[in-house]
Amino acid sequence: MTQDELKQAVAAAAVERLPRDGLIGVGTGSTANCFIDALAARAVRVRGAVASSEASAQRLRGHGITVVALDAVDTLPVYVDGADEIDSQLAMIKGGGGALTREKIVAAVAQRFVCIADESKLVERLGRFPLPIEIIPMARAHVERQMIKLGGEPRLRAGFVTDNGNIIVDVRGLDMSAPSALEGEINQIAGVVTNGLFARRRADVLLLGTAQGVRVIPSEAAEP
Ligand code: 5RP
Repeated sequence: MTQDELKQAVAAAAVERLPRDGLIGVGTGSTANCFIDALAARAVRVRGAVASSEASAQRLRGHGITVVALDAVDTLPVYVDGADEIDSQLAMIKGGGGALTREKIVAAVAQRFVCIADESKLVERLGRFPLPIEIIPMARAHVERQMIKLGGEPRLRAGFVTDNGNIIVDVRGLDMSAPSALEGEINQIAGVVTNGLFARRRADVLLLGTAQGVRVIPSEAAEP
């Protein structure tokens, strides 16, 4: 199976597990796009969707799915999104598509985070994928210096502006042996909006696309 077919398979598996007629949170990226398309193709009825980016909102609307502002909801039963890397504890690096801040906000409101990913995203330890950090533009040099002190190699994502009007610096080489601690430490730096570690609010379930089919982690029998 190609990587695209694996993405489509996990997207379809996520659609099958949605509560009917409910509100959902929708992530950003090529796997999330497969999910949006699968929602429309299967004509699954949802009351509305909160989008984690302008791009996903536009795609949802294009399929006739109602986009709801996050402020208009108290809670979301489920948030479905991809990841750049995910480990066996379901901590993730996200933000390859630059939507990490809104993704983290929508995920914070959701009761359940369903990560959909092809098998290339499952890693033993996070950190090969450079960590995206959304930064207030005037703080760039300051944040880059702090990243170098932490052992990282920061690089500006050239020509990219987030939906929130900020910049992204991608950082290689950070020690991610304690991802929750690192997530908190980086978020304390003045000028950082948020970083792409999702270790504190990690996924609740991973639907992993493999050549043998969609694996559910933790296995459904083990879920509460
Ligand atoms: C966007 C994200 C995406 O979930 C992540 O980059 C994975 O994208 P894709 O499904 O295209 O591999 O965090 O900000």
